[in-house]
Amino acid sequence: MREESHGEREKQGRSLILGIESSCDETAAAVVRGGTEALSNVVASQMNLHANYGGVVPELASREHLRNVVPVVRAAVEQAGISLEDVDAIAVTEGPGLAGALLVGITYAKALSFGLSKPLIGVNHLEGHIHAVLMEARQRAEQPMELPLLALVVSGGHTHLYLAEQKDEGWRYRNVGRTVDDAAGEAYDKVAKLLGLGYPGGPWIDRLARRGNPRAVPFRFAQIKPRAHREGVSLPNKKAPAKTAEVVTSFDFSFSGIKTAVLRYIETHGMREGVEERRRILAGHPEWGPGSDEVAALCDRQTLDLIASFQYAVVGNLLRQTFAAAERFGARGVVVSGGVSANSELRQRFQAEADQRGLPVAFPSLALSTDNAAMIAAAAWPKFVAGEFAPDALGATPQLRLGGS
Ligand code: KG4
Ligand code: ZN
Repeated sequence: MREESHGEREKQGRSLILGIESSCDETAAAVVRGGTEALSNVVASQMNLHANYGGVVPELASREHLRNVVPVVRAAVEQAGISLEDVDAIAVTEGPGLAGALLVGITYAKALSFGLSKPLIGVNHLEGHIHAVLMEARQRAEQPMELPLLALVVSGGHTHLYLAEQKDEGWRYRNVGRTVDDAAGEAYDKVAKLLGLGYPGGPWIDRLARRGNPRAVPFRFAQIKPRAHREGVSLPNKKAPAKTAEVVTSFDFSFSGIKTAVLRYIETHGMREGVEERRRILAGHPEWGPGSDEVAALCDRQTLDLIASFQYAVVGNLLRQTFAAAERFGARGVVVSGGVSANSELRQRFQAEADQRGLPVAFPSLALSTDNAAMIAAAAWPKFVAGEFAPDALGATPQLRLGGS
C-alpha cells in the first residue's frame, strides 16, 4: 500500500476514503476504495442499550458514540489492512440526525483531518443511503442504471422520495415526497411496542407477518393533500379556470394514522391483556430473537393477522407512492434503501411491481440497508473527485435536507 503515492491512487480511481457515521444509534467507520470497494465496514450498534427504553435516547446515544468512535475507526482501518496515513480523505455525516450524536463523529473526523492533513468531506446521511445501493451495483460490475432514478429512503427517521440525476461530476436530488408525520420505520417500532414485541420493531414484524393473514384487517391510507410552493410540485391556481388547472398528486406519506388504528384495534378487540403477558414473558427472555418459534408461540392468530395486515398496508402504501412518483417523473429505475428496505415483503413486492412495469429496481445488501459508514464514504467519492471539501467550520446540521424541501 505504502509504495503507491496518493497522487497515483487518485489517478487510477483507487483513492481511499475513511467514512465515519454517528447520526443516530450506530457508531460506524469504513474504508472504501475508489468509491466502489468496501475494504472494511465496522458498525457498533447501541440497539441493546436503547431497547430498554423502546427507542433511541439522544443523551445515551452521544455518550456511546464517544466511547465507541475511536475503537470503531481503529478497527475499520485495521480490517482494511491500511494505516491512517494511507487514507486520502475523511468523510463524515453532517446531518440529518441527532445533534449530539452527529457532533461526536464530526469532531473526531475534523481532528483526524487536521492531524493527518487530509481533506474532510461532509456527507448528507440520506445521500449515503442512496449511495449504498449504487456502490454495491458498481462492486458487482453491473451496467449502471439509467438516470434519473427514483430513490425511496425509508428508515426509522425518514421516508423520503428523491429524483436522483448525475450532473457533471456530482449528483443532484429533487425531493418529490416525504412523510408529513412519522417515518415508516418509526411506525414499525411503535406498533411493535404496542404489541409487546422487541425493539427495533421492524425485524420482529417482518418475521411474524409471514405467519398471519395480510387481508384480515383492511387498513386504509388517506390521500395526503399536495404541498404548495414546492419546487416542481405546484398547486393548481384557484383563480385559474378549471380546465387549465393542473391535477396535482401528492407523493407524501403519513404513518401516524395506521399506528393509531392498530392501537384502536387492540383496544376494541380485547387484546390488551395478551400484549402485557407477551411483554412480561419476552422481558424474561432477551435471548429470543425476532424469528424464533418461541416468540411466534406467544402470538395468537388475531395478533399474527393484525401484524401481517399492518405490514401489508404499509408496504402497499410505500409501493404505490414510489411507483406513481417514478411514473410521474419519468424515472428509469427505482432504488430503495434505509433500514426498512431490509423488509422481506417490501423487497418481494417492489421486485414484482418493477418486473411488471419493466423497470429495474435495486436494494442494498442487508448489511448496508441499515446505518453504516461504507455508504458515507461511497457518497463522498464524487465530492472527492470534484474537490468539494468541507469548510473548517463544518458543524452538525440535525435538520439537513437533501435536494431542497
Ligand atoms: O436506517 P436505519 O438503521 O436507521 C435510521 O436512519 O433510522 O433504520 C432503522 C429502522 C428501524 O425503524 C427498524 O425498525 C427498521 O429500520 N427496520 C425494519 C427492518 N429492519 C430494520 N423495518 C421493517 N422490516 C425490517 N426487516
Ligand atoms: Zn439511516
